[in-house]
This record gives sequence, C-alpha cells and structure tokens, in this order.
Amino acid sequence: MRSIIDILDLSVEEIDSLINTACDIIENPDKYCDKCKRKKLATLFFEPSTRTRLSFEAAMYELGGNVIGFSAANNSSAAKGESVSDTVKTVSCYADIIAMRHPKEGAPMVASMAASVPVINAGDGGHNHPTQTLADLLTIYREKGSFNNLTVGLCGDLKFGRTVHSLINALSRYSGINFILISPDELKLPDYVTNNVLKKYNIPYEETTDLLEAMPKLDILYMTRVQRERFFNEQDYIRLKDSYILTPDKLDTAKQDLCIMHPLPRVNEISVAVDNDKRACYFKQVKNGKYMRMALILMLLGVE
Ligand code: NCD
Repeated sequence: MRSIIDILDLSVEEIDSLINTACDIIENPDKYCDKCKRKKLATLFFEPSTRTRLSFEAAMYELGGNVIGFSAANNSSAAKGESVSDTVKTVSCYADIIAMRHPKEGAPMVASMAASVPVINAGDGGHNHPTQTLADLLTIYREKGSFNNLTVGLCGDLKFGRTVHSLINALSRYSGINFILISPDELKLPDYVTNNVLKKYNIPYEETTDLLEAMPKLDILYMTRVQRERFFNEQDYIRLKDSYILTPDKLDTAKQDLCIMHPLPRVNEISVAVDNDKRACYFKQVKNGKYMRMALILMLLGVE
C-alpha cells in the first residue's frame, strides 16, 4: 500500500509511465471505462477546491468507479473535533483510495500513516500539491515534447504557492532546467526550497521582481495567484495581490512558442484577453489533470 504525499514519492521512471498511461487514456478512453469497477475513491477536502476535487471525481467516474466524500471541513466530523487520523481510519473502512486536501502542512502525511488505503495529497497548506504537478508535467510534455533544456519562469506568490514548490522539485530532476523566480521580495521562494532543492542540486536560478525583463528568455511562464488564505493580515494581501497582471502587450517580447501556465483559479494575474493567445495553456492543464489523476489512481490501485 502506497501513498503519494510529495511529487518526489514518484521516480522519474514512474512519472514517464504515468504520462504514457495518460496519453493512452486520451487516445483510447473506452479501454479504461471499467478499470475501477466497484472501487471507491473518497475525496476528503478540508479546504475549498473546484478543479482538484472535481477532476479526481471525474477521473474515478471515467474509470468506472464510484466516489464518496466531503468538500468542506464543516461538513465532516472535523467540525466536532475529530482528528485527521480518526477520520481516515474511518474512511479506510469505506473506500479503496483517498484524495485529501487540508490547510495544515503535513496533514495528508499524518493521514497516510493512519490509513489502511493509499492517500493522495491533494494540496497541504502552503507546502505541496503533487497532483497539480502531474497535470503541469503532462502539459509541458504535450507542448514541449520533453522536460529538458527549458527556462521556466515562476511568477507571483512563490512563498505560499504550493504548486510552485512541487513543480520545482519535479523539474529539478531533469537536465538543462533553469528557473527564473519572479516575485515581490515578500513572496520569494521559501529558503527550504531554495536550499534543499535549487542550491543542493546546483540548479541555475535567478530571482527578480521584473516580469518584463524575464519575458524574452522564457520557454514556460507559470503564473500564480497570491494566496490570500495564507496571509496573516489582509492589508499585506491587498498591497501585494496585483503585483503581476499578465496582459497581451506584455507578451510582445515573449517567444512564439512560450507556454503560459497557471494552476487556476486566477484572480487578476492573467487578463482574460490573454485566453485567446495560442500560447495560453491553462485550460489545457485542467484537462490534463484529469488524465494524470486517472493514471495515478490506476497505479496506486495496482490495476493493469
Ligand atoms: C491551486 C491550489 O489549490 O494550490 N489550485 C489548484 O489546485 N489547481 C492553486 C491556487 O489555489 O492558487
């Protein structure tokens, strides 16, 4: 029994295999429509979600399985004071696999130690979000053909943005990756990511506040939302929330094959006028997320 708490719980070979499965699902969806018959996925979401929860659920339904769960802490016994461990011990009696989102960093890890079925981290506080990274990786693979030799700009809230932390971990295992970290000083990448990943593995990176200066160098531009729910005070959020707003004119100096990504939801970071640009890939990411979650569920349930 195996859980996925961190993107590094998957080897590079396993990521390749998930990508192959996802591509096969895209080509031959009918082949997969009964693979999880009579299996149940539980989605335990202690924090809001649209894409992640619904794509896990759509993924399980497309595999012929069923879904149970809750979409807010106040709909569960957490509201009565039940611990995460007791909740997942209970849910393990009903479901074959669990996807869990929680505002506390480490909660899915604690859950995986108590559960008797696989637990997938669907986002833990400002820490990690491995299945968003799977969506991001499939998108990069389909747009760029490989994960090597890319200049990747990560822009916005690099401090609290868990999708950024997981993506950096994942991409750092490929060759020729170069990061440009674009953020206000107060929202810089946490030291634990800079030190334990970028510096440790000698990954080239630069930190800047200037999106326009970085733009012409980028193969990928990964925009992120300023994570309001993780701020200690609203004043700071208001001051920082519109630090970067991508508009069509800012793309004038960008590469023709730039891939513009965003895990969504967006607030103001990308103007809707950019949606028509052929380089906008964020709604493709949404689709890709479902296929990768299907592939991951199959892997963790040991379905051939
Ligand atoms: C992200 C998240 O929850 O971390 N959303 C998602 O899962 N696609 C990004 C965000 O909320 O800004």
